[in-house]
Formats: sequence, structure tokens, C-alpha cells
Amino acid sequence: MTGYFISFEGGEGSGKTTQIKKLVAWLAAHGLAERTLVTREPGGTPSAEAVRDLLVKGAADRWLPATEAMLMSASRHEHVEHVLRPALADGNIILCDRYNDSTRIYQGVVGRVPHDAIEALNRLACGDLEPDLTILLDMDVTTGLQRADHRDTTENRFESKGMAFHQRVRSGFLDLAAGAPTRFAVIDAERDADTIHKDIANLVEARLKAAQVLT
Ligand code: TMP
Repeated sequence: MTGYFISFEGGEGSGKTTQIKKLVAWLAAHGLAERTLVTREPGGTPSAEAVRDLLVKGAADRWLPATEAMLMSASRHEHVEHVLRPALADGNIILCDRYNDSTRIYQGVVGRVPHDAIEALNRLACGDLEPDLTILLDMDVTTGLQRADHRDTTENRFESKGMAFHQRVRSGFLDLAAGAPTRFAVIDAERDADTIHKDIANLVEARLKAAQVLT
């Protein structure tokens, strides 16, 4: 059985969690419930979740961008080796809420950690494991931050980094997607959730058929 790796990326409040839930239901309706794994970064294993707590809570300036990149990569390596690779080897479809593109953008492009250093960390953390498909949920930054602000969460360290930071995140992701159009699908995330889901379901159906995961 072939596995398939889908990552979801986007700014704060872009609706990744909602869309992942809807896609899980769609995959279940297509007989793929047993083969679907939902996970997230930073996190996805007990040790990586412990590192997540260090990263997403506390003051905005708690860590320097290079330190963040190392912590993100440390937690990612645990996730890749203990969860992602075994799940793919077992033929699972992985829906991962963020992956190494987030490090490329948040710590690399926006945090100004040099590109070569970010790519070296990504190689150490992930080896050759890249997503088969990356769904970028793109939306207006103000709307996204307002939505994120309404969530009941203490995980607001990145949200508190300010508007200019998040504008650079958005444009960084769009540039990255433009440079890798085969892997990325950019989805307009400012529409209602069901309309967005239909686009994602159509896209995933075509990709899973092409990869012979779905017949
Ligand atoms: P989340 O709110 O989407 O779960 O993500 C937590 C925060 O961590 C989000 O603001 C983006 C940030 N992040 C990075 O800065 N670099 C990374 O590599 C990852 C995975 C997340």
C-alpha cells in the first residue's frame, strides 16, 4: 500500500483545523478512515508536544529566531522518525497541520535565519521526507488574527508578534508556493468553510487517484 503525505500551511486563524476535520470526514466517507492519520507540528509525539509548549507559550521575544528554528527542528525530527515515516510505510494518509515550510517562512524568511542554515536543519530533521501535497490556506492577515484571537487558548506567542510579522508570513508563503507549484495548492481561505472544503476534496481526490491510493 502506498502512503500519502499532505501538509496544511497558512497564517494564524486561516482555518487549518476546520479544514482538516472536514477532510477527515470526507476520507472516512470514501472508506479511508482506518488509513487516515491526523497530526501536527510543532508536536505529534509526547516529547515533541513538550517542546511545543516551550515554543507557543510565553512572551513573543522568549526565543531568538535561530533558537526557534532549532527547537522546531528538534521536535520535527522526533515526529518524522517516530510517527510520519512509520505511518507512511504502513500506507497511511497523513494530514499534518504544519511541517517544514513553516520553519522556512516563520524562522527563515521572516526571522531572517539564513536560508542555508534552515535547509540544513530541515535535512537533519526530515532527511528526504517532503509532503506529496501542501495545501496553503491563504487569507487576509487582519481577518485571520481576529479569528485566532477568539480562540480560547494560551498558545498565543506567535499571534502576539504583530501585524507586520504576519504580513511577511503571508507573502513568504505565497512566494514559496509560487516556486513549487506542483507540490503546493493555494486555496482562498476567506470563503465559507464548506466551499473551501469542496475545493480541497476535489483536489485531494484527484491527487489520491493519481497516486493510486484511491481507485
Ligand atoms: P498553530 O497555531 O498553527 O498550531 O502553530 C503554532 C505556531 O507555531 C504558529 O504560530 C506557527 C509557528 N511555527 C513556526 O514558527 N515554525 C514552525 O516550524 C512551525 C511548525 C510552527
